[in-house]
Amino acid sequence: MTIDSGAGIGRLLYGPEEIAAAVRQLAGLVAADHRGKPLVLLGVLKGALYFTVDLSRALSEIPDGPSEIVVDYLSVISYGPASRSSGRPRLLLDETTPLEGRHVVIAEDIADNGLTLEFLQAFLRERNPASLRTCVLFDKPSRRQVPIPLDYVGLTVPDAFVVGYGLDYQERYRNLPYLAQIEPPESQL
Ligand code: IMP
Repeated sequence: MTIDSGAGIGRLLYGPEEIAAAVRQLAGLVAADHRGKPLVLLGVLKGALYFTVDLSRALSEIPDGPSEIVVDYLSVISYGPASRSSGRPRLLLDETTPLEGRHVVIAEDIADNGLTLEFLQAFLRERNPASLRTCVLFDKPSRRQVPIPLDYVGLTVPDAFVVGYGLDYQERYRNLPYLAQIEPPESQL
């Protein structure tokens, strides 16, 4: 595979098997909390596209999990330099599933400074779901600026910019099946 970049792909953090195992483990935890209940799984675009797909499939393989699973997406963006989120999240695309009285799980790729999830949790709580939980595949706790409740956490990552498995650098590298550090040019930091 050729990787064309202005930024170098650095240290491999998690390979495809480790990511798949973490997704299965998260699915087990989500299933246990939603046994026999209908679940709305809300993926946060674009980063959680792959994670949401894999999590929903892993959930369907659990026999005594949710009674049904509705998958929907919304999209949040934060303006800022390429490799750091700026901390001003706004909704770009809304989900179409009514959430009132439903059991909702947010599927997010990574918790970094926490502002995106803080914004989303507040925004979704206003829709009066029966329950609202947050599932993140990757967690970068060292960069947290606001405390956010995370109900399910997959893998911890160091304070570095990471790409792959949905996470991008300037829209590239989302398709990588693994998670790796990247060293963006100084000007982009
Ligand atoms: P937060 O608001 O800082 O927690 O950032 C959340 C969003 O920023 C994530 O959904 C990602 O889209 C993006 N993000 C944060 N850290 C990284 C990273 O290391 N690589 C790629 N995207 C990231």
